[in-house]
Amino acid sequence: MNGPLVLGVETSCDETSVAVLDGEHRILGHVILSQDVHEVYGGVVPELAARQHLAHLDRVVDRALDDAGVGLDAIDAVAATAGPGLVGALLVGVGWARAAARALGVPFVPVHHMEAHLFAPSLESTEAEPPFVALLVSGGHTLLLYVSEWGRYELLGETRDDAAGEAFDKVAKLLGLPYPGGRPLSDLAQSGDPTAFRLPRPMLRRDQRPGTPAWYDMSFSGLKTAVLLALRELEAEGEFEARRADLAASFEAAVVDVLVSKTLRAVEERGCRRVLMGGGVSANRRLRAEMAVRLGDGGRVIVSSPRLAMDNGAMVARAGRFHLDRGSGARAEPHARPDLPFPGLRRAAD
Ligand code: KG4
Ligand code: ZN
Repeated sequence: MNGPLVLGVETSCDETSVAVLDGEHRILGHVILSQDVHEVYGGVVPELAARQHLAHLDRVVDRALDDAGVGLDAIDAVAATAGPGLVGALLVGVGWARAAARALGVPFVPVHHMEAHLFAPSLESTEAEPPFVALLVSGGHTLLLYVSEWGRYELLGETRDDAAGEAFDKVAKLLGLPYPGGRPLSDLAQSGDPTAFRLPRPMLRRDQRPGTPAWYDMSFSGLKTAVLLALRELEAEGEFEARRADLAASFEAAVVDVLVSKTLRAVEERGCRRVLMGGGVSANRRLRAEMAVRLGDGGRVIVSSPRLAMDNGAMVARAGRFHLDRGSGARAEPHARPDLPFPGLRRAAD
């Protein structure tokens, strides 16, 4: 095996995940344990998330190492998500990773969770190399970036309120679907008519102009309210069950329309027809399909498999390896920080 073996630890939310990457970024072992305890509460309970990470992290590490066929003493660096995320959950992963790195006498590399999502597609595709326009859509963030090279991230736009995944989760809850709701909502939408309800496309207007924040920024909380109002009408008419799938499909179509339209503005402006998508929502079938169709011939959508689009340790190890090679890991703050700044990110106007 050539190059350093990197162990990646992800505990920022409700997945306990660990991976071993070899020198060529190949995944040798990878375990993703999704905590199902939150389902009965309809959302992640931070205290429970931290306790679950603590209860299972050792086993998850052991399994990942077993699958890789190596012992902990073969590891050359330990990377862990240091933020953003739930502080108690982050502390478990960072605490474990720092202690392990110290005991092994190897570097500890703190990783930004959204930068890790950005690296995820590169684990499966050699095409996932800058330059590209990046759309990062998760439960906590919605970011539109232009990436000219790894480590240089230009922030074009972001959500002003709810993240795209958060909107999926909240609307799914309104529709009586389990948590996390993105996948179940998308499954329900398959049998619905996406044109059945005229839902708003927030922050997407013809009078917006390039160079203003509104051009790229997004908003999803008003859309959730529009769904709620439509749902109340359906309930009053006794039509809720019959039209639930139509409402799900119309909501999904509205979110996807906003995400794709904003991304295409960046594609046109930057003259770059390569779009990389990351984060849990990038697993959405409608988003993938519509992005590809509207990008058209000559365009390229770069996404990972659904397994690597969700929170996972492999993407953390990959981003950690980047900073290890650059020597920037040692300079990063080695503590869990729910508000960790995205390294290398600057606003387009700065
Ligand atoms: O990146 P991720 O695994 O965790 C965070 O960093 O938040 O993203 C989780 C989010 C959840 O909101 C979940 O509902 C959403 O991704 N999601 C989806 C789909 N699969 C997961 N949203 C829409 N369609 C999907 N197929
Ligand atoms: Zn995530």
